[in-house]
Amino acid sequence: MDHNATILSLFAGVGGFEQAFHKAGFTGTMVAYENWPSARAVLSTRFPSAQLFGDVKDLPPKLHDAEIVTAGFPCTDLSPAGRLAGISGDASGLIVGVLRAVQRQSPEWVLLENVPNMLRLKGGEAMAIIGGMLSDAGYRWCYRTLDAQHFGVAQRRKRVFLLASRHHDPERVLFRDKATLTGTKPTATGRVHKAHGFYWTEGNRGVGWGDGVVPTIKGSTTRGIPSAPAIWLPDADIESKFRTPSIEALETLQGFRPGWTVAAPVRDRWKLVGNAVAVPAVRWIAEGLKAYDQLVSVELSRELDVKHGWGTAGLSVDGHVRCLKVSEGPVTGPLRRAFTLQRVLDDRGSNPLSAKATRGFASRLLRSNLRYDDSFMRDLNAYASL
Ligand SMILES: C[S@@+](CC[C@H](N)C(=O)[O-])C[C@H]1O[C@@H](n2cnc3c(N)ncnc32)[C@H](O)[C@@H]1O
Repeated sequence: MDHNATILSLFAGVGGFEQAFHKAGFTGTMVAYENWPSARAVLSTRFPSAQLFGDVKDLPPKLHDAEIVTAGFPCTDLSPAGRLAGISGDASGLIVGVLRAVQRQSPEWVLLENVPNMLRLKGGEAMAIIGGMLSDAGYRWCYRTLDAQHFGVAQRRKRVFLLASRHHDPERVLFRDKATLTGTKPTATGRVHKAHGFYWTEGNRGVGWGDGVVPTIKGSTTRGIPSAPAIWLPDADIESKFRTPSIEALETLQGFRPGWTVAAPVRDRWKLVGNAVAVPAVRWIAEGLKAYDQLVSVELSRELDVKHGWGTAGLSVDGHVRCLKVSEGPVTGPLRRAFTLQRVLDDRGSNPLSAKATRGFASRLLRSNLRYDDSFMRDLNAYASL
C-alpha cells in the first residue's frame, strides 16, 4: 500500500505505533492524539513533524482523512491488574467513541491493541462490542495474540492485535506467515538461557517468571507502583546475581532506542515505557500492510466457534466470528533476538535488587506453588544475606 498514507495514532503514548510504522517505511503524515503531558513531551521530541493533539474526545468527524487509524487504547478497565469495569469503564470505554467516529468516516484500515484479558473478561464482552461495531460498519476484521518475545526482544508480552479493513483482507496481513496451515510454533533462540526474569512484587505467581526474557513490563501493578522486574543471573558472582534493569534497558526491552523517553519527567518514564506497545510486533504488522499488494490470500484452517470462548486468534466472516489456533509469533521471519537479556543488561545498565526485596521474594516463593530450581532459592538466600 501507499507508503505516503496518513496515519492517525490515537492514545499515542510515547509513540510505539508511530515508530513501528516509521521503521516499516511509512513516510506520510502522522497525526497523534495523547492527553498526558509527559507522553506528549516524548512524542514532540521523537516525532517533531507529527501533528499532535490532546483528547481523543475532540476528534474531528473526518478523522483527519486518515487511511490508517491505530489505537492502543487504555487497558485500565480490562487488565487483571486494573479496575475490571470492562469496555463500559471510563478509560477503556473511550474506544467506543472512537469506533463511532470510524463508523461515520470509514478509514480504510483500523489497528487496535490491548491486553489478552480483553478476550476473557465478562465472556469477551469488549471483543463482541468492538467487533460488532466494526462489522456493522462493513469492516472485515481479524485478531491475533502476538508475543513480543517472538519479534526479537527479550520480553514476554502477549497482546491482542485486531486489524480491520473496509475493502481489503486483513487476514492476509495478520496471518501472512501461514501459521494456521503449518501449526508450527515459533522458537525464540534455541540458546541455553543465562538470565531469568521474574517479578519480586508478585512472587507466588507462575506468570511472573521468564527464561531468557523478563515477564511483561508493566505501567502499573496491583500495588499501584510501576516496578521493575528482577533478573537472576545464575553465572554471575554472588553480589551481581540479582539485578533490575535500568530505564534504558527497559526501553530496549520494548524495542525502543535507549533514552527514548528522556524528555519525560524521570518519575513518569517507567510508567510510560510499561504502557507502550513493543515496537517490533507492530512493525511486523506495519510491514505486512505496506507489502499488502504482494500478499496472497491465506487459507485458514482449524476453526472453532466463538461460542466456546474467544480463542487467542480469530476472524469475522460476514459478521460471524471463528476462532483460530495459531502461534503467537510469525513462523517465518526474524525470530532471533538481536540482544539477549544478559546483553541488554550489560549494554544498557542495571541496578542491584535490594536485600529487602530479595528476602521478601524468597519468603513468598517458599509459600508459593511456583516450581523452581533449587539453585535459585540457594542464590536468593545467599544474596539476601550478603
Ligand atoms: C496503553 S497507553 C498507549 C501507549 C502507546 N501505544 C505507546 O506505545 O506508548 C494509553 C494511552 O492513552 C492515553 N489516554 C488516555 N485517555 C486519553 C484521552 N482521552 N485522549 C488521549 N489520550 C488518552 C494515556 O495517557 C496513555 O498514554
